Amino acid sequence: IPNPFDPPRKAAVEYISHRGESADAPENTMAAFRLAWERDVDAIELDVHLSKDDRLVVIHDADTQRTCGVSLKVKDSTYDQLKGLDAGSWKDAKYAGEPLPLLEQVLETIPQGKRCFIEIKVGPEAVPALVKAIETSGKKPEQLAVISFNAETVAESKRRLPEIPAYFLSGFRRDKETGEWNITFDQLIELAKTLKADGLDLYYQGPFDRAAVEKVKSAGLGLYVWTVDDPEAARALIDLGIDGVTTNKARWLKEQVEAA
Ligand code: G3P
Ligand code: CA
Repeated sequence: IPNPFDPPRKAAVEYISHRGESADAPENTMAAFRLAWERDVDAIELDVHLSKDDRLVVIHDADTQRTCGVSLKVKDSTYDQLKGLDAGSWKDAKYAGEPLPLLEQVLETIPQGKRCFIEIKVGPEAVPALVKAIETSGKKPEQLAVISFNAETVAESKRRLPEIPAYFLSGFRRDKETGEWNITFDQLIELAKTLKADGLDLYYQGPFDRAAVEKVKSAGLGLYVWTVDDPEAARALIDLGIDGVTTNKARWLKEQVEAA
């Protein structure tokens, strides 16, 4: 039964499928993105690295060992050398032969009204390839967002693609002895402004409270969090007014939060 004293929950929170529906399908493969769209999620998130021949390859790690069972560095390999690798078997034999996709191949699958958060795992040297992949995919800016832990990459993305929202990613860590957080909301807001970023995309276990969220909002910035699979934690952050939540099971999490 909804409590009438609870603050109204924001209607348009975006549930973002982390590496695709990666709880159930191999992360960052077409199978995981297909499953996300089948489940009618609001958006997907994916990771890209730059290959030796300047293609943006969809993979989380700089090396293919963990997800493909063979060790190749993406930056030292051409896409021809990477495209035959099996990025699916490690998850389940039924996904054997799932390839490492190119960014443009995934972008082409985004349905009308849905979005893709492109996490650039490398520096600003990847931005020309990003521009090219977006052009090839024919996707409009409103269906895209760029995210990165690399401040220069965020700034360069805004310089080359000003109409595409870009969010600065940051983790939160707490000093074991002093209990102090590694970074404050004031510092994050200042950095986002310097980079001309559209907002912040933050690790969900941090110093969140209503005042912090309001501070981000009144600075005119968007606020997203990652990677939340716990409905209680997601609900608490949504109630504070965040714009979106990145999760390994987007459909399930949305159902859990909305059922409460
Ligand atoms: O959405 C941001 C989040 O994906 C950052 O962490 O390591 O999963 O790329 P990671
Ligand atoms: Ca990511």
